[in-house]
Amino acid sequence: MERFADMKVTVYSCREFDEERIFRKYGEELGLELVLCPDAPEPGNLGLAEGSACVDILTSKMTRELLGGLRDRGVRYLVTRTIGYDHIDLEAAKEFGITVANAPYGPHGVADYAVMLILMSIRNAKRIIERTNIQDYSLKGIQGRELKDLTVGVIGTGRIGETVIRSLSGFGCRLVAYDLYEKEEVKKYAEYVTLAQMWKRADVVTLHAPLTEENYHMIGEESIARMKDGVVIVNTARGGLIDSQALIAGIEAGKIGAAGLDVVENEFGLYYYDRKSDVLDNRELAVLRGFPNVTVTHHMAFYTDDCVETVVRDSLTGCKLFLEGKENPWRVA
Ligand code: NAI
Repeated sequence: MERFADMKVTVYSCREFDEERIFRKYGEELGLELVLCPDAPEPGNLGLAEGSACVDILTSKMTRELLGGLRDRGVRYLVTRTIGYDHIDLEAAKEFGITVANAPYGPHGVADYAVMLILMSIRNAKRIIERTNIQDYSLKGIQGRELKDLTVGVIGTGRIGETVIRSLSGFGCRLVAYDLYEKEEVKKYAEYVTLAQMWKRADVVTLHAPLTEENYHMIGEESIARMKDGVVIVNTARGGLIDSQALIAGIEAGKIGAAGLDVVENEFGLYYYDRKSDVLDNRELAVLRGFPNVTVTHHMAFYTDDCVETVVRDSLTGCKLFLEGKENPWRVA
């Protein structure tokens, strides 16, 4: 594998308030020269990548045009400080000879968050908090359910899904799981079932699979119709796994009892920006946010001390391995 003389990495979307200090620390430790840019990559700032074989990004859409621009400036390696990499045009990256990697930080941050959204959903937390805020201390309409009485369905039993299953096993709920590959460890706590069985049996469905062409809109009109009445849907994976229109229709019809959504379709360009004075063009998000039984958060599940530290560390470690011509465990394409 090729070795590079210049140990330069251009970092886009570098947050000054939490990431910059960690980038400087690991940059020094690993002997890397860093160019830190607070903005997402766009045609106007690709010049910052000139002379860097490695570029480090967040969840910004990496189109063919942007990847071509990076290639023209000598970029050979692109790492995303995320687990999911569906925002990168992998075909174009391959064509341009750009290696793509992710930085899979610890699973506990997202797993804890999914458990929190499940609990918030079954206990009507949004309604309760909204009432308390306006001194409405009434009880009608906010009675909750207990996990010990419910069956939770976990889709995707990789690092995060398995951690969710282990955590939930302490609550005494029944656990059913679905994945393309079964894991022996998971079978200690959960029963693997088909998707058809999951829709029939689960009171709560929580998503922990990556977004692929095959599972795009895996929760849609047809699957929702086959779910239990009052089903709770929690998504901390990727917005595209759920057809937002079908979700809204299911909530309006009362078929879906509650939802906890850390991710939604078409969140690019919105999340992580202060857009409070702007008119937004994401109607589904506006409708979902408005429901009293839907908790929407802005792709926050990863956002813990541990995840921020380890994602920066591992993204730079991957760059160092690449620049030294060594095998990189986080290469995805
Ligand atoms: P992982 O790669 O360890 O596990 C993913 C699992 O999904 C694997 O077991 C895989 O076999 C399974 N899978 C793939 N396609 C499937 C399908 N069509 N149906 C069912 N299972 C399928 O990934 P990890 O670390 O557990 O992350 C899971 C997802 O969580 C990521 O892909 C990402 O989209 C999301 N995520 C969200 C974050 C947030 O802040 N909300 C942060 C980090 C990850």
